[in-house]
Amino acid sequence: MCGIVGYIGPRQAGDLLVSGLRRLEYRGYDSAGVAIANGELEVRKKEGKVDELAALLENRPVEGTVGMGHTRWATHGAPTDTNAHPHTATHGRFAIIHNGIIENYVSIKRRLLEKGYTFDSETDTEVLAHFIEDVQEETGLSFPESVRQALTQVEGAYGIVALSMDNPDELVVARNGSPLLLGVGEGEHFVGSDASPFIEFTRHVVYLNDGEMAVVRRDGYDVSEINGAPVSKEVHELEWDLEEIEKGGFEHFMLKEIMEQPEALENAMRGRVRADEGTIKLGGLEYVTKELESADRIVICACGTSWHAGLVGEYLIERFARIPVEVEYASEFRYRDPVLTEGDVVLVISQSGETADTLAAVRQAKQAGVLALGVVNAVGSTIARETDAGVYLHAGPEIGVASTKAFTAQVTVLAQIALLLAQKRGTISDESLRQHLDALAAIPEQIRTVLETDEQIQAIAREMRLAQNALYLGRGLNFPVALEGALKLKEISYIHAEGYPAAEMKHGPIALIDRFMPVVFVATRDATYEKVVSNIEEVVARQGSVIAITDAGNRDLDELAEHVIEVPKTADAFEPLLTVVPLQLLSYHVAVMRGCNVDQPRNLAKSVTVE
Ligand code: G6P
Repeated sequence: MCGIVGYIGPRQAGDLLVSGLRRLEYRGYDSAGVAIANGELEVRKKEGKVDELAALLENRPVEGTVGMGHTRWATHGAPTDTNAHPHTATHGRFAIIHNGIIENYVSIKRRLLEKGYTFDSETDTEVLAHFIEDVQEETGLSFPESVRQALTQVEGAYGIVALSMDNPDELVVARNGSPLLLGVGEGEHFVGSDASPFIEFTRHVVYLNDGEMAVVRRDGYDVSEINGAPVSKEVHELEWDLEEIEKGGFEHFMLKEIMEQPEALENAMRGRVRADEGTIKLGGLEYVTKELESADRIVICACGTSWHAGLVGEYLIERFARIPVEVEYASEFRYRDPVLTEGDVVLVISQSGETADTLAAVRQAKQAGVLALGVVNAVGSTIARETDAGVYLHAGPEIGVASTKAFTAQVTVLAQIALLLAQKRGTISDESLRQHLDALAAIPEQIRTVLETDEQIQAIAREMRLAQNALYLGRGLNFPVALEGALKLKEISYIHAEGYPAAEMKHGPIALIDRFMPVVFVATRDATYEKVVSNIEEVVARQGSVIAITDAGNRDLDELAEHVIEVPKTADAFEPLLTVVPLQLLSYHVAVMRGCNVDQPRNLAKSVTVE
């Protein structure tokens, strides 16, 4: 969601900003723009993709070595050229880009209108621009100090970069609730909503915290609290490199990320799952294991695909460690005054580590004085920094908006947490622990086998691409897989799809079944298998067309289902790690065949930083 890039240094900013914005495309956006200082401020902005902005810059190039770029995901006002960022004020003498939402913009705008200000766009950002202008006019303060003054009166979330011709040798940046970091180079500095736009130039970064601002120059930066006090910051070194955020020969990031799941899961288990010793080591939880193992209840909070991983986590933790677990949509959790008492532990799951609602759940937990843990992929992200402890996925950057390898890595980490707690609490025998560790360690290789079904899945996708609706059914641990399969399909192919517990079909969705409705069953031979087969019969009796995912060698479904996709047999508890993979491939191929933009589906964002 909205991307920010800023640059100050010796290089030409135009190309650098455009290539930075391309790297941020994955976040989801609908217009893009840049402002570059070149004696005066030159702004170019355009509705649509970064390519269109690049074409505009080719027609009307701008020289200059200081500038900023933005991809906008519309919140206030439609995605138009005028609403695109940067927004200017002081007769074009300064420009600002902004991620987030200014909640009190209406009252600020009213005051400015009374003073005679006029507005070109419908955005809250332009209001902020004129507000800063007004503060500067009223107070005569320097530009950075005017920004500071204005921000103390602003409510809401923001990550901003501002550039004024008062001093075009500095960028003013500030953060409150929307991620922002600085890239530290030699004689040059970068700003980003994440590190991807500048990772090819530097891996040294400074994370800004909420309530902090910085004045960034070619040769350095000063960070302070928005309220005034200077802050000294640590420089961190990033682990990811450029190669990892490029497509590496695949047509789409999503396909690359589906295909790299075996390695991603190996990395998520490396040094942690010690099948030969029969132990698990999760360094990130070491200091809190005691508290965690004696928890009365674990409340998992997450959004989207991460919430589905949480549902699998609930089964795993309850089954192995016998600790009661609740799974909450982070966006609901915070608004219903949840009861958190001593003995509760809040565990949040987030690929990006920046999802606004999930972050709010962390803060709520901390406010209630309970332990807040994170299962996060993005190292150094806000959730990773604000949780008391946690486990990184180490799945590598995930760029495709539809989450794939992060889901399987999240489930892998949750399985490790469940087994670790079971061992500590004595709710699993040594033998069963060993068997499950062996099974977990074998998953990456088994996923390689599942990925070989790709051609078969393409053939199924060819039929499915014409559907208008689809139903995904599963029971037990495969119910969250059904939800995830349906989410994947609707996200990227725009076919309406629903996931349901298979037995619940009779209480509603069965009314929709006819021969045009593909019904995907996740039907592995576990405790609920016989019941699921009955549900398949019920669909077939109504001429529904069944696609079944089952374990290798199961011939029961050959007569019933139109297509049977086989996955290797694993421990029941880990089936989601295998059964979800064909569903990821299916939605991918259907979307490609329907001509959809797989990596950047319409209206969706990778990192949802507004509530
Ligand atoms: C967005 C993305 C999803 C993701 C969800 C939660 O909706 O499009 O792919 O699952 O946010 O994101 P998180 O980064 O917190 O896991």
